[in-house]
Amino acid sequence: MTRLRTAVVGAGQRFTEVVPAAAAAGRLEVVAVVDPSPAARERAAALLPAARLHADLDSLLAGDVPGAGAEAALVLTPDWTHAEVGTALLRSGLHVLVDKPLATTIEGADALLAAAEASGRLLYAGHNMRFMPVVEVMRQVVEDGLIGTPRAFWVRHFVGRGGDYFFRDWHAESALSGGLLVHKACHDLDAMSHVLGTSIQAVQAIGTNAVYHGCEPRPEGRAVPEVVNDVTHWPPSALTDVNPAMDVEDLSLVNLVCSHGVLGAYQQCCFTPDYWRSYTVIGDAGRMENVGDSAGEGEVLVWNRRRHGFDAEPDLRLPLVEGRGATAPVCEGRSGAHDAADAAMLADFAAAVLDGTAPRTSARTARDVVAAGVLARRSMHGGGLLPVPEPRVGTRSTT
Ligand SMILES: NC(=O)c1ccc[n+]([C@@H]2O[C@H](COP(=O)([O-])OP(=O)(O)OC[C@H]3O[C@@H](n4cnc5c(N)ncnc54)[C@H](O)[C@@H]3O)[C@@H](O)[C@H]2O)c1
Repeated sequence: MTRLRTAVVGAGQRFTEVVPAAAAAGRLEVVAVVDPSPAARERAAALLPAARLHADLDSLLAGDVPGAGAEAALVLTPDWTHAEVGTALLRSGLHVLVDKPLATTIEGADALLAAAEASGRLLYAGHNMRFMPVVEVMRQVVEDGLIGTPRAFWVRHFVGRGGDYFFRDWHAESALSGGLLVHKACHDLDAMSHVLGTSIQAVQAIGTNAVYHGCEPRPEGRAVPEVVNDVTHWPPSALTDVNPAMDVEDLSLVNLVCSHGVLGAYQQCCFTPDYWRSYTVIGDAGRMENVGDSAGEGEVLVWNRRRHGFDAEPDLRLPLVEGRGATAPVCEGRSGAHDAADAAMLADFAAAVLDGTAPRTSARTARDVVAAGVLARRSMHGGGLLPVPEPRVGTRSTT
């Protein structure tokens, strides 16, 4: 089977999930890795001894065989670098998967769309949630007409690891992450756009920093602590070493106007005791919601007959099982992080480049959800309902 010769740019934490997923996907051969950090390059050498290592993009793209002959690249660098790194790779003729969020600004996302259009190369949005069972099952429920025509979605995002993950390091600085309505919400807004077959047209939001602004800041000169998921860090108000430059919200409520008359709500709280996502989708002939969001631990419940009052027993229970989605790409050994979604996504990327199949993710939707997050934060400061502008290039809107 032909394999896609691929360079990976950025060899941090995400790299350690993506490399095994690429192996499980079976159709990618990682031929080069780029990272300015010597420690990261050492990690890469241990995981991928045959790959060529580069300290920067210029070195990857120079030489007799640029990019070690790579035809494609995976961008796994921090969010604020996505636009610059991704456009450079597209311009040099590679097909590019950019991990979420596509960018941290509307201008950055638009630059990526424009570079893809100019180069004729594939810009693939790394929205792996589209390959998670909870999203696959919900999309299937809509496609099968089990709740009629979808009219509304409500997302409750319980970000229980908020403090440890997002309020100590760069994520707490909007200039670097775009804010958590870009960095985190992009996943769910993309997933809901996919499930309902809709696109976001306007947003309005309120938000605040209710807890972490009051925490003990990291003293000058002390290193950012390792990212941990430590359940003894409780209550959230007792967290120490928070980023002193923090300027992002930890509590946000967003209203969304979408195409096809759909209205949505996205609610994010970064100091909950639990970590999961709750989606409710209401159609004109039923509603569904998930309880738990991981394979083996959750299910999608569908109520599509009328009752008198509360009824805990739905009309349909759809357990979340790995590889359950009817449209999941065939992928040997769907294993690894994120419910094997990463492997399925990488198989979909490889198939799109090698076989010309339609990608399941959408760069245009990824751009629109970045715009929604940016504009939602802008609207918090007296902006009201803000329309999501069309991108500079005339990319077709797909969900
Ligand atoms: N899709 C998902 O589920 C998911 C999960 C986690 C992280 N992510 C995304 O993955 C990306 C990386 O996150 P991470 O946690 O691995 O970050 P990280 O900080 O652990 O690693 C980033 C690596 O990129 C390197 N880097 C920085 N600038 C670079 C450049 N210009 N060229 C090459 N390398 C460069 C850094 O040295 C570092 O080794 C982020 O955008 C994040 O949002 C996605």
